[in-house]
Amino acid sequence: MAITYELIKTCKQTGARLGKVHTPHGSFETPMFMPVGTLATVKTMSPEELERMGAQIILSNTYHLWLRPGEDIIEEAGGLHKFMNWNGSILTDSGGFQVFSLSDLRKIEEEGVHFRNHISGEKLFLSPEKAMHIQNALGPDIMMAFDECPPYPAEHKYMKDSVERTSRWAERCLEAHKRPHDQGLFGIIQGGEYEDLRRQSARDLTSMDFPGYAIGGLSVGEPKDVMNRVLEFTTPLMPDQKPRYLMGVGSPDSLIDGSIRGIDMFDCVLPTRIARNGTLMTSEGRLVVRNAKFARDFRPIDENCDCHTCRNYSRAYIRHLVKANETFGFRLTTYHNLYFLLNLMRQVREAIREDRLGDFREEFFEMYGFNKP
Ligand code: GUN
Ligand code: ZN
Repeated sequence: MAITYELIKTCKQTGARLGKVHTPHGSFETPMFMPVGTLATVKTMSPEELERMGAQIILSNTYHLWLRPGEDIIEEAGGLHKFMNWNGSILTDSGGFQVFSLSDLRKIEEEGVHFRNHISGEKLFLSPEKAMHIQNALGPDIMMAFDECPPYPAEHKYMKDSVERTSRWAERCLEAHKRPHDQGLFGIIQGGEYEDLRRQSARDLTSMDFPGYAIGGLSVGEPKDVMNRVLEFTTPLMPDQKPRYLMGVGSPDSLIDGSIRGIDMFDCVLPTRIARNGTLMTSEGRLVVRNAKFARDFRPIDENCDCHTCRNYSRAYIRHLVKANETFGFRLTTYHNLYFLLNLMRQVREAIREDRLGDFREEFFEMYGFNKP
């Protein structure tokens, strides 16, 4: 098996899992946050910087790499790891979600999805077989099944049909996957907010024996308590001895609350995206560095952070760079935000090891300002 999961221990206070996922490109500790590198680059960061900040696995996108430069070019380069010079683990999303989030004019059929290229407008078609073919050519350690991520809210009837189609697509993905020996294919549990449909989806997919499972269809506009409730009834339906991945979630509070509900892996564009408009995550909450009040503030972004940005540069300097649209400013903010989340997960793992993740959550929420009305 290309992917194996080692459960090290569960937190006595919360039930969160401390573990390790072993891949053909090394192991990563869980719970873990995966920086997003959509176009075979985590925007503005070099692989050396990612390694230095402690990233162990990054995510990239089938859909974008298929459109440019094309999976054939990446295959010819020797695969995505060699193409982008990243030697850690890589996970690619299947394109299912991107088709739904980036393109209008899409038509879902049993065979697959017809849609338009979000750049050129050209007509395109993606199916389970195509998504597997592309991901086999890209060569990530972990690839994702081709699924449908329905909008929130969706009616029960629509969601049931969608869940059943996603299960049939998952079967076709397993069938079409050509490299199970060195690429692990994860199934994606859908079903929106409906417990019976999450149950049905989990039952369908776990019977197919994927090496890992994801929960999809969350962080699509639903309130936080809906997400937490869905996680509460869904993670117990997932196998204990395989990794569990919550797709598209990366706010600090959700990383902690997801870990407490038994999630091992997370990804999100949030830290990198907000960094590029000058918003920083700090131990005391969000800091908008463009704000005039930082013009003469020579303290670091976060006085409790020991990242390269915070050890060397001031709020005033970063504010100046960001306001002047200087690339270096975006590199400094991106580095800090990613470091902040990777470091948060390090603290989560340490707290699980010491059976005190509940206490850590309280302290963190208090500091970050989530407990304020
Ligand atoms: N990214 C965030 N949510 C989803 C989802 O439901 N499916 C897929 N494939 N990717 C996602
Ligand atoms: Zn920092």
